[in-house]
Formats: sequence, structure tokens, C-alpha cells
Amino acid sequence: MRIVFAASECVPYAKTGGLADIMGALPAAVARLGHEVTMYLPLYRQTQKRLQGGPTSRRVAIQSLTIPFENYSRFVTVLDGGKHEGVQHYFLECPELFDRESLYGTDAGEYSDNAERYGLYCRAVIESAKQLGVPDIFHVHDWQAGLLPVMLRTIYYYDPLMKHVPVVMTIHNAGYQGLFPSSVIPQLLLPWDTFTMDKLEFYNQVNFLKGGIVYADVITTVSRTYAEEIQTPEFGFGLDDILRKRSADLHGILDGVDYNHWNPATDPKIAAHYTPDRLDGKAACRKDLLHAFNLDHCKASTPVLGMVSRAATQKGFDFVAEIIDQLAAEDIYLVVLAMGEPYYENFLRSIAERYPQKIAVKIVYDETLAHKVEAGSDIFLMPSRYEPCGLNQIYSLKYGTVPVVRATGGLEDTIGDYNPATGSGTGFKFYGTNPQDFWLAIQRALTLFTDKAAWRQLMLTGMARNFSWDKPAADYVRLYEDTVRSKS
Ligand code: ADP
Ligand code: GLC
Repeated sequence: MRIVFAASECVPYAKTGGLADIMGALPAAVARLGHEVTMYLPLYRQTQKRLQGGPTSRRVAIQSLTIPFENYSRFVTVLDGGKHEGVQHYFLECPELFDRESLYGTDAGEYSDNAERYGLYCRAVIESAKQLGVPDIFHVHDWQAGLLPVMLRTIYYYDPLMKHVPVVMTIHNAGYQGLFPSSVIPQLLLPWDTFTMDKLEFYNQVNFLKGGIVYADVITTVSRTYAEEIQTPEFGFGLDDILRKRSADLHGILDGVDYNHWNPATDPKIAAHYTPDRLDGKAACRKDLLHAFNLDHCKASTPVLGMVSRAATQKGFDFVAEIIDQLAAEDIYLVVLAMGEPYYENFLRSIAERYPQKIAVKIVYDETLAHKVEAGSDIFLMPSRYEPCGLNQIYSLKYGTVPVVRATGGLEDTIGDYNPATGSGTGFKFYGTNPQDFWLAIQRALTLFTDKAAWRQLMLTGMARNFSWDKPAADYVRLYEDTVRSKS
């Protein structure tokens, strides 16, 4: 099969969160199953830097695509990024829209022309595919690619090349929907009849994610539990109704992780390698982590708790705020790597100032440090309010770092609660929204940590779990095949 992926992030070219990790791995896993896979990405400033750092010279695949808007046109050059791990990459160059400091916005807010940026992106993917290879199916991700199925089924309705091509849409996070004023309908040359309650309209605004959900042939999300949760008012962010209407076409496929990049046996970013048979390298990683966070004075017997996270409401920092004084009263160290909303960044700075001997925080986006936290911590905290899949808890398992999680979405599906009677489970879970339940889960972890043999066994159980892409990639391929079959 020929599959075209459309997403706004992909490692190593551009990343703000887990979507980029998925795009760096799923297309390659699908290609390994013998399929022809192509991926289109915007050429951001950070992508340009990555490309310049590598051996790729500028190879033009299409000199100029004309992308029409209401009163003007923009022009996109398609660059051939070559084949990596079996996946053909193309970069869409439109410097006026993508050559910017960040992907979606700055501290001052989201870029005001994001509708135009991602509207152009979707149309440029369709136009490029017409020239460079019409796929059997499109697989599009999140709101940034949400207009692709909308355009395909409206603007391209009569296009002999495109009219039969089905679309799978994956929701990685229903909390981010791409909301814009209704003026973007004429600006992007979309027909006005798409602006109704059962299509793109959402409380008088245009909702890109909703458009994708309505017009895609099949919808997936990134864990089984989240697929159920988003059909409820609590987790659907106003889209639960439309998702319930499409529940027959909504599937939960758990993300995999890329063990080529996240494996303590081979990870080049950590101080020492270790495996389930030879765990001693983890002590060196711990020392190196504490050094990186200026906590050199730490005792070896004290547990190190780690967090790596976007600083956002989703990630449950309010739970941390509620229990931080109880936590700081214990014999622990806490290291936090986070970046995002200023409110949570300030909160994190404030706790490091309050407890400088025990808590260290880095407000930065740093890949190497993220790996060091996974490897050097004993316990990983992830009390997310909601979590579509979550990758860090899965990385933690592989690194022998025991996760403490709130039982929601992918956290519910990937972590088994430790049962002292049977020794089953891979971490500590809490349910509901009472911060004291989070605190109890941490206490259970801290208590078990003092029992070295039981703790070691718990680490080994987690390290043995396998979340590789083999199974989810095969599940997606089955879904592509079923979708193409039912469409023809
Ligand atoms: P989300 O996509 O909701 O942010 P995930 O758990 O799926 O959550 O993925 C987060 C990814 O982003 C992981 O690869 C994690 O290591 C990375 N990450 C998050 N914050 C940072 C940071 N401050 N520095 C480096 N990497 C980070
Ligand atoms: C989103 C979600 C996260 C998920 C990631 C990759 O960013 O917040 O839970 O792991 O996408 O699917």
C-alpha cells in the first residue's frame, strides 16, 4: 500500500511533544511491514537547522506550488528530504509562514495566522501528492492536519485523482482543536456549507479538529481508554457529542515507543549503559543527573523522583502543588524538566526556591536532559489530569524508573498497579481527583523503595514490558486495508 502521513511535528526535524516521537517511529514501522510511506512536514526554522546540520543538500522536488487564498496566492517549494528508515520525507517551504522562532506561537500567544499556516499546509500536501504520488490512503494527525479530509471531500470533491482516497485521522490530544474566527472559511476558500454545527462550526468558531473528525473515514486515538473517555463530557472538550456520533468508526490504538532512541542499553545521551542483567550503570546515571541539576550533595540512599513534561494544565501540576510540602518533608530529591505555560513554569521555580536542598527545576526544552531524568531517577511522577497515551511513563519502565501515575487514558492502559501480595504490576496508580490519593501512591512507592529486593523486582518487571511498534503498526495497516476495502 501507499500511505501518506501528514503531521505538524516529527523527530528529529521539529518537536514540541509526543506527536513528534510518534511521527519519527510509526511511519518507519509501517514501512518495515513492506508498505510505501511518504511523510510531508512544514519546513520550520528549526527543521532547516537540522537539515543544514546533516549531509542533505537542497534537492527540489517541486519548484512552485500555487496555493490560492481568497484575495491572493502563496507559493510553496517542495524539498526532497530523501528516504530515512524506508520513509520518504518531503518538506514544504513557505518562509513567510514557517520560518519562525517556534512552531505554533510564542509566550505572547499563538501565531495569529495559524489557520492560514495549517490551511496552506493541508492543501500543499494534497497538491504535492497529486504530483509526487497519489496514496491509497492518507493518515493525518491532530488539528494541524484536520483540514486535509475537509478539503478532500469539498474542494477536491470532483478531482479524479483524489476523490476516492480515504483518510484516517488520529487524535493525539482532544484538548487542542485549532479554533479560529469564521472569516477563515472564505479566506481558505472553503464552502460556507461546511460552517454548520454538524461540520466545522463550534460555538460560532471554526474548529479544525472537528472538521477532521467529521470528514475522515476512520478516526483513531492513542489508547483504548482515551477512545472511551473522549466520548464523555469530562474529556471530550466539547467534541464528545460528535465523537459519540462516530463511535462506530473510532478506534483506540496504543502508541508504541522507539526503543532505538529510548533504551538504557544503548542510549548515547546517558552517563552509563545498563540492562536488566547488569543494573549497576543506573547508579552512574543517577550521579550524573544530580550533577546536571546541581544536587551534588545528595546521599545515595535517598530516592530521586523525576518529572519530564510540558508545563500545561493537562499534566496535573496542580496535584503536585497540593502535596509538595508533604513530599518535601520526606527524605527525597525531586528533579523537574519542564517548559510551557508561564503559570506552571513560575510555580515550578517557586518550589525549587522554597526547597533548594531537595528540589531542582530546569525550565528548558532539552532532549539530553530528558534522557538523563529517565535514566537517573528512581521514581517518575505523572499525575496527568488526562493523558491520551503518554510516552514518558513507558520510557520510564524501560529505564527501570518506577512510574507513579493517575489512572487515566494511556496511563491506565500501560501501567499496572503494584500488588504487594502477588508482586504483580509495574508502578503505582491513583484514581480520581483527590490530591491525597496522589500522595498515598507516592508514599506506597517510597515505602517499597526501602525494600531493596522488592524494588529491584518491580524495576525488572517494568523493564521486561514491551511496547515496541510492531503490534500497533500492524494494527494500523489492518485498519488502512479495511478502510480502503470498504471505500472501494
Ligand atoms: P505530550 O505529547 O502530551 O507532551 P508525551 O508523554 O506523549 O506527552 O510526550 C512528551 C515528549 O516530549 C517526550 O518525548 C518527552 O521526553 C518530551 N519532553 C517533554 N518536555 C520536555 C522538555 N522540557 N525537554 C525535553 N523533552 C521534553
Ligand atoms: C499527545 C498526548 C500524549 C500522547 C502523544 C502522542 O501529545 O498528549 O498523551 O502520548 O500525543 O500520541
